[in-house]
Parts: sequence; structure tokens; C-alpha cells
Amino acid sequence: MPFETIRIEDEGPIRVIAVDRPKVLNALSTQVLREIDAAVAAVPGDARVVILTGAGEKAFVAGADIAEMQGKSADEARGFSALGHAVGKRLERLDQVTIAAVNGFALGGGLELAMSCDLIYAAEHARLGQPEVNLGIIPGFGGTQRLARLVGPQLAREMIFTARMIDAPTAKARGLVCDVFPKAELLSAVKKIALEIAAKGPLAIAAAKMLVRKGAALDLDDANRLETETFGELFRSRDALEGITAYLEKRKADFTAS
Ligand code: CAA
Repeated sequence: MPFETIRIEDEGPIRVIAVDRPKVLNALSTQVLREIDAAVAAVPGDARVVILTGAGEKAFVAGADIAEMQGKSADEARGFSALGHAVGKRLERLDQVTIAAVNGFALGGGLELAMSCDLIYAAEHARLGQPEVNLGIIPGFGGTQRLARLVGPQLAREMIFTARMIDAPTAKARGLVCDVFPKAELLSAVKKIALEIAAKGPLAIAAAKMLVRKGAALDLDDANRLETETFGELFRSRDALEGITAYLEKRKADFTAS
């Protein structure tokens, strides 16, 4: 499927998906959301890490497309929100690791998109926020939920109620981003981390990703039972045998996702 609003590039085991509407700071229209959704659904099995970023110098994604939202009926707005949620869900359920490389503004739906990824890294100049109340609306692509889970309910309420943007070091201090890099180094630093992850056992990474996600909705005993069950199941894989054997033989493991 040819895409008009996103760009896809492959580099070994890394697939980069860039939202490509720099003139409107990569705002998320229905078309962009559908294209991201299709692109994530089409990530090939041999890609190990997906990096999401924004085209241009200024923005990761500055939010849902405000021009498109003007005049939406309640039903249309509900549909738009559901589409944003579907994209978030697809990213969260992808077996592969997803990383947001926040290369500028990550606002509203942009921050929500980033928070649907497994890891967020930001450039020093990035600014992050949920400014929807400025428009008389609320975060609609998961912001009230994922932000509260990431930074805690009180700081989430403050960010949402004040609509203030925070800078990258503050986002790091709050646990909203993993790390901060100089602007020119962000993508190469994120690719380096992606390659580090890509060298690990893919079935183990997918299982760990699933456990962190599912465990958040379970009580500790149930979550730990699920971990025990999954730990056992992984021992059926060739990769577990290979990884353990390679360690004992003091050589690099050759994982095949089997
Ligand atoms: N939607 C549509 N267009 C947008 C946009 C958005 N979210 N964000 C920026 N743009 C457009 C601007 O309208 C402007 O277009 P024109 O050149 O045609 O005027 C262009 O991008 C460049 O932006 P600015 O000139 O405003 O750039 P700036 O550097 O002066 O300001 C900014 C940058 C502070 C990010 C400012 O653009 C801004 O406040 N953008 C809106 C941010 C926002 O409110 N996001 C939340 C959207 S609602 C949402 O996301 C709901 C949800 O959760 C589902």
C-alpha cells in the first residue's frame, strides 16, 4: 500500500516509520492514523524494532489535526478517538519492540502516540504535553490513562489541567522518557539501542513485553502466575536452548525466533 503521510525505511532489523507532514508539525489526521495503523500491521516478522519519529526539524507530532477536528459531530469525534486508540492498541500488542524517537514537539495525540510505544527517547529541545483543554477538549487517544500510568495520577492531572508543556529533562525526571540526547544524535542513539535489543532473543522480548502489559491489569499473584507460565513455555523454544547453551559455551547466541 503506498503511503502519503508517512515514510518507511528499513535498516537491518530496524524499521523506521516517520510521520511526514512537517508543514503542520506532523499533526495526526484520520489519514495519518490509518496509514500508521496499516504500517504497523504490515511490520515484517524479521523486523525486530520499530522506531516512530516525525519528519522535519520541529516536531515529533504536535497532536491530532485540529483543522480536521473542527465541526466534528459527537459521533465523528468518538470515531476519531476510537481510531487513535486502535493505533495505540496495535503498537502495544505488536510482538516487536516499539520506540518513539521524540525529535521535537510531542503534544496531545503526539504524546499519546509516543506513550503507546514501549520506550520513549527525546531530543534535548523536545517539549511534551497534553494541551487539549486549551481547545475545550480532552486527550482522546489514551492520554488520561497512559500518562497517569507512566507518571502517576497527580502529575498527569497537573499536565492535563494546566496544558503546560514540559521539557525533555523534566520528562526524564518524571519517568515519561527513558533518556535525552542532543538533537543531532537522537536518531543514531535510538538506533544503537534498537540494535542492542534486536540482538536478544525475539521470543523472550515479545514475552516480556506481553507480561509487562498484561501484568499491569492483574493483581500481583495473578501476574506472577502468568510470568511463571510464560517462563516455562519459553523453555520449549529453540532460542532458549540456544541462548543458554551459547552462554555456557562462551559464544554469541544465534537466535532465530523459533
Ligand atoms: N493540528 C493542525 N495543525 C497544526 C497542529 C495541529 N495539532 N499543530 C501545529 N499545526 C500547524 C499550525 O497551525 C501551523 O500552520 P500554518 O503555518 O498554516 O499556520 C503550522 O503547523 C506550524 O505551527 P505554528 O506556526 O503554530 O508553530 P509554532 O512554533 O509557533 O508553535 C506549537 C508550535 C506550540 C506546537 C503550536 O503549533 C501549537 O500549539 N500546536 C497545537 C498543539 C495542540 O494543541 N495539540 C493538541 C491537539 S488536540 C489532540 O491531540 C486531541 C487528542 O488527544 C486526540
